[in-house]
Amino acid sequence: MKILGIETSCDETAVSLIENKQILSEKIASQAGIHAAYGGVVPEIASREHLKKLNIMIEEALSEAKLSFEDIGAVAVTARPGLEGSLLVGLTAGRAIASLMNIPLIEVDHVEAHLFAREFNDPGPTPGIGLVISGGHTRLFYIKEWGDYTVLGDTRDDAVGEAFDKVASLLSLPYPGGPSIEKAAVGGDSHRFRFPVSRMKNTYDFSYSGLKTAVLYEIKYRLKREPSETDIRDIAASFQEAAFAPLIKNCLAAAREYSAGWIFLSGGVAANGRLREKFSEALAGEKIRAVFPPRRLCTDNASMVAACGAFHLK
Ligand code: KG4
Ligand code: ZN
Repeated sequence: MKILGIETSCDETAVSLIENKQILSEKIASQAGIHAAYGGVVPEIASREHLKKLNIMIEEALSEAKLSFEDIGAVAVTARPGLEGSLLVGLTAGRAIASLMNIPLIEVDHVEAHLFAREFNDPGPTPGIGLVISGGHTRLFYIKEWGDYTVLGDTRDDAVGEAFDKVASLLSLPYPGGPSIEKAAVGGDSHRFRFPVSRMKNTYDFSYSGLKTAVLYEIKYRLKREPSETDIRDIAASFQEAAFAPLIKNCLAAAREYSAGWIFLSGGVAANGRLREKFSEALAGEKIRAVFPPRRLCTDNASMVAACGAFHLK
């Protein structure tokens, strides 16, 4: 069955058509350039942009796959969580198509959908540990089996992607901050700055606001000048090390506690090359394996929404 996936929860308008485990066509329009001037996503602008683009993108995805509305067997759409106005654009389009074509509509949870961002949409073996790390979430799951999750930990304040975005802004690097910091950190001295690694006892929760403040204080009270190119490189590299340490520590501890052989990472921050390297270093000699989606499926996309919808439809 061909499934149309729609994603409009934040600043990406995305459409995908999948069948079995294949992506037939995929469209994504990022609004990052539009929001860059404001240093973050402006909800009103986001929903207007979705409204401008979504219908055109659905038609383009269909024509690229040489399909028409009659060929779609079900519609999967992100229903929560996200920006209300933006979600409404996708939901309204999804409901209209499902109702007119008389086909099922699957309302998908965006965070769960991130866990379905896999090459060929194969969700992977269980039991596993899931970690969704994005601009809005730092959530650790125990995946007993697909569809049966326990949230083990969550962010207490800022999400890890949000910390990347805020630190990038402190360093005058462009939005979105994650890719900017990753690029700036190349060749940087990750030992030059000792940023605090959040260590919370007896919990799988995360905290990132202290780390962001530590970077601010370092620039304002210790450097006391505009950071040079070398400073930016070293701050970015040191920040990444401090940001990634609790992610790796909690994933490993949870995998051991729940006898899970697999750690599934997803969300925009999972696109980071240094994070991937650090996981493979930490898991060397372990029986636990870390699975990352291809980089393009880490950030928001509609193929993960369609794949999650296909799973629930079954
Ligand atoms: O999953 P996503 O596209 O949207 C949400 O659901 O939030 O994640 C976006 C977040 C942003 O905070 C962005 O800065 C971060 O993911 N990000 C990265 C990288 N690419 C995107 N963080 C670190 N390294 C990256 N390469
Ligand atoms: Zn997301």
